[in-house]
Amino acid sequence: MLYEDIVQPLLFRFDPETAHERALRGLELLSRVPAGTALLRAVAGRPPADLRTTVLGLDFPNPLGLAAGFDKDCRLAAVLPALGFGFVELGSVTLRPQPGNPKPRLFRLPLERALINRMGFNNGGAAAAAARLAAGPKPAVPVGINIGLNADAPKARAPQEYAEVLARLHPYADYFVVNVSCPNLAGLRDLQERLQLERILTAMSPANQPRRPVLVKITPDISDAQLPDLLAVISRHADGVIAANTTTSRSGLSADLGDIRGGLSGRPLRAAATALIRKIRRLTGGRLPIIGVGGVENGADAFEKIRAGASLVQLYTGLVYRGPGAAARLLAELKALLALAGFADVAGAVGSEAEDSEP
Ligand SMILES: Cc1cc2nc3c(=O)[nH]c(=O)nc-3n(C[C@H](O)[C@H](O)[C@H](O)COP(=O)(O)O)c2cc1C
Repeated sequence: MLYEDIVQPLLFRFDPETAHERALRGLELLSRVPAGTALLRAVAGRPPADLRTTVLGLDFPNPLGLAAGFDKDCRLAAVLPALGFGFVELGSVTLRPQPGNPKPRLFRLPLERALINRMGFNNGGAAAAAARLAAGPKPAVPVGINIGLNADAPKARAPQEYAEVLARLHPYADYFVVNVSCPNLAGLRDLQERLQLERILTAMSPANQPRRPVLVKITPDISDAQLPDLLAVISRHADGVIAANTTTSRSGLSADLGDIRGGLSGRPLRAAATALIRKIRRLTGGRLPIIGVGGVENGADAFEKIRAGASLVQLYTGLVYRGPGAAARLLAELKALLALAGFADVAGAVGSEAEDSEP
């Protein structure tokens, strides 16, 4: 493979954040030159055409999205669909610009096909994101905007800040995500507590006109005791859930890697994220749409999450290890697996694992 044999070894010679910035700049450049997007589409490969699915009232050309954190500054909304994704999630965007944590803050674990990051919501803020999105063409696939909280925001102001970011970016989003699960901002995950989350979701509502679906992105480190309460709030005040963000758990990693602080993503997160999707499906009776994310690298990983209950799937770390052809290859594999298992479409497979195990 061109990417894994040539491009990736070159990119992996840079420290991970420099490699990421170069990849973003390359994509930005391609989006500006004539035929750049067509070239990218040729490199990425064509995803299968008949994986359309409708979720949250939105039509997706396929069920695979790019997860939040890859394009925090909304620089690439127009060009990312050329990589084959059926939707893209931009951000996290905070109200004010902020530099994030000191570097180094992104680490590769190639043997584990994983990353650890403690970026800390580095981004240019909501006004800059809005200006960029206003200047670009409307992307060809649904766009989600993921909202985070500034590190210096008092937690009592969280509802107003999330609402203000939504208000500024409302014209550019097909759905919004409330990120209360990033492990790299002290106290952010406390916002998953019932009352706090209720206040945030209620505050966002008046600015959300016409109404776009709102999802809550949760941590895979949530306990079984906390989960039902959290899902009750999400079911009442939001439209869906994204499971999951990165984990602070290091189970399964060797001790020396466990010393790197931050959120772990990629293959070691896969099983825990799928288990969480399964629990959510069971607790909500399949009534709450789930976007499944965590360690998805190939078609079998995506199929596993869909069968556990995810209506849509996302990836980030898999793109780093599989390269620009990741989406098209994964979707071709997924299509073959769906056909083999006798499903006519993606929607028919959602949560099907539970039916198999019924007596
Ligand atoms: C470098 C990096 C930055 C991330 N930044 C964000 C972010 O800003 N907001 C967010 O909701 N998730 C963020 N994530 C989490 C991903 O969206 C995703 O939930 C997680 O990485 C698990 O998926 P994966 O195993 O496919 O990477 C980030 C992940 C990585 C690796």
